Amino acid sequence: MIIAPSLLSANFANLEQDIHMINNSVADWFHIDVMDGVFVPNISFGFPVMKAIHKHAQKPLDVHLMIVDPDRYIPAFRDAGADVISVHLEACTHLHRSIQLIKNGGAKAGVAVNPHTSVSLLKDVLADIDLVCLMSVNPGFGGQKFIQNTYQKVRELKQLIIETKSNALIEIDGGVDLKNAPMLKDAGADVLVAGNTVFGAADPVATVGMLKKV
Ligand code: DX5
Ligand code: ZN
Repeated sequence: MIIAPSLLSANFANLEQDIHMINNSVADWFHIDVMDGVFVPNISFGFPVMKAIHKHAQKPLDVHLMIVDPDRYIPAFRDAGADVISVHLEACTHLHRSIQLIKNGGAKAGVAVNPHTSVSLLKDVLADIDLVCLMSVNPGFGGQKFIQNTYQKVRELKQLIIETKSNALIEIDGGVDLKNAPMLKDAGADVLVAGNTVFGAADPVATVGMLKKV
C-alpha cells in the first residue's frame, strides 16, 4: 500500500517540521491539495508554498488540483516540483488533452473523480493514465466523513482497469482511517491519502506505519 499523507492537515505555521516528520516515516508520497475557491468552496495554497514544500520533501509530490481550467497551470506545477499531477474529470472539457499535457511535461498523470461521478466515464482514458484519485468525500476540506459508496466504486474501477489493460493505481482520498483502510485494500485500493488520520494522531509516524501495514 502506498501511503500519501495530505499536508492540508499539517501545521501551516511550521510546515518544515511536519515535512521532516513525513520524511522520517514510512510514508511514500506527499499529497498536496491545491484549491482555487471556484472548483471547490475553499482556497488552500499555491506555488510559493508548494515550492517551499518541494525544498524539504524527500518523497514524491502527489499534486491534487482542485481548480478550474487546470491546463493553464499544469506546466507551472511541474516546475514547482510535482511528480504526479491529478486533474478533476469534472474540471476538464478536454480531459485527454490535459492528460497529454501532464505526461509531455514529464509528470505522472492522474484523474480525480468526485463522489457523484461514475467511474465508467474513465473507461476511454484509463490506458493513458497512471492514477485515478477516487474522492471518498466531496473535495474542499480535510477531516470529513468517508462516503460508504466508495467501496463499490473501487471494485468497479478495478474491474475496468483490468479490462482496459491499464496500469493505473487506485488512490482513495478523503476520510481514510485505520478502520476503513483494510476494507479499501480488500476492494482494490493501491494508494491511501490520509490527512486528519495522520496529522490529528497523537503519534503521526506510528499511524503512517499502521496504515502502511494494512
Ligand atoms: C479534500 C482533499 C483531501 C483531504 C483529505 O478535498 O482532497 O486530500 O486533505 O483529508 P482527510 O484525510 O482528513 O479526509
Ligand atoms: Zn486530495
